[in-house]
Amino acid sequence: MKILVTGGAGFIGSNFLNYMVPKYQQHLFVNLDALTYAGNLENLKSIEAAGNYVFVKGSINDQPLMNKIFVDHQIDRVVHFAAESHVDRSITGPAVFVETNVLGTQVLLDSARQHWLEAKKLKNHRFLHVSTDEVFGSLGATGYFSETTPYAPNSPYSASKASSDMLVRAYHHTFGLDICITNCSNNYGPYQFPEKLIPLMIANAIDRKDLPIYGDGKNVRDWLYVLDHCKAIEKVLFEGRSGETYCIGGNNEQQNIQIIDLLCGMIDEKLGRSGEQVTERLKKYVTDRKGHDKRYAIDATKIKRELGWEPETNFAEGIRKTVDWYMGNQDWVNRLRDGVYQEYYEKQYGLVGKRVSGQTSE
Ligand code: NAD
Ligand code: TYD
Repeated sequence: MKILVTGGAGFIGSNFLNYMVPKYQQHLFVNLDALTYAGNLENLKSIEAAGNYVFVKGSINDQPLMNKIFVDHQIDRVVHFAAESHVDRSITGPAVFVETNVLGTQVLLDSARQHWLEAKKLKNHRFLHVSTDEVFGSLGATGYFSETTPYAPNSPYSASKASSDMLVRAYHHTFGLDICITNCSNNYGPYQFPEKLIPLMIANAIDRKDLPIYGDGKNVRDWLYVLDHCKAIEKVLFEGRSGETYCIGGNNEQQNIQIIDLLCGMIDEKLGRSGEQVTERLKKYVTDRKGHDKRYAIDATKIKRELGWEPETNFAEGIRKTVDWYMGNQDWVNRLRDGVYQEYYEKQYGLVGKRVSGQTSE
């Protein structure tokens, strides 16, 4: 198979490629990424020289480039991660969320449609769209999201993801494209950009910077270790039923404050600062996020029943691995946070403004 992975230099995409490329040496993986602030080729060092891996720098919004990739590599499967992914950024600047998540997805779908359907390359294709549980809106104290929950997105991010889900669904019903959609809960683990809750809190705690807690800190998320998400995507990619949606979750609800307290304790202990309560004193309750969803929780019965997937990593183990990774990779974090990243990046990879494989649409 020739598998196009979009957004493969981001958090989940890079974990996915680091897992899949060595495992499936008979398949080619083409990583298409625009390398926005969230894309980082350093995440892919372990596979960059692999014979079954190619990187192309470019945007999913570039239709000629997308067409060219489908033809040049004879793509049969797409795993579509590329997106703007941070809720807070979608509140301060929604436009790019519509451009990338909605319009970009439509461009990619059109290239897939042209290549697979119009060029009559129907056999064994699949477009796997990676989406979020945030499309379902917010839960009260009880209940779970499932594949039958009506969409009710509340943030510009979730609205843009909901729109892209609808387009993927429409290309299945209208054109007969083989698609699957996954709606996953919050991921955590290595290589997550330090703007999301868990890596931000770890990095700030290490640096003795404030830990901003939105509202009362009692909002609930269902946390899933990123490798478990990657394994769920692997299942859906190869064994999912065409046209189906699969909800993926960690069966692991935590209030934000519970996570922050856990991290404070772990980091103080690892840095030998227990007793001083250093990190505890960094906690700062701040103005709540606008439209802040109260609770997300997933009922993942369908993917367990149909595909035999369930999370393997318990939260204690996953969070320990994550803290260890961030403590061992403080240079990675600091380069992103110090703003020296672009310069470093250009020196390391010489990539800025260039496409590695030389494939351009111009
Ligand atoms: P991320 O922000 O870490 O990475 C996004 C990647 O997409 C980056 O490498 C970026 O350079 C790339 N990208 C952005 N715009 C692009 C464009 N126009 N063309 C090509 N590449 C572009 O995101 P993530 O956390 O890895 O999330 C990946 C996907 O999974 C997203 O679609 C997100 O909605 C979804 N998701 C994320 C979570 C989570 O907890 N992080 C949970 C459920 C679903
Ligand atoms: P985040 O990691 O941004 O994921 P999402 O909003 O997509 O679920 O935030 C997770 C939770 O943590 C959410 O309830 C908002 C909260 N939060 C804070 O309290 N402080 C912070 O600095 C951040 C980034 C998030």
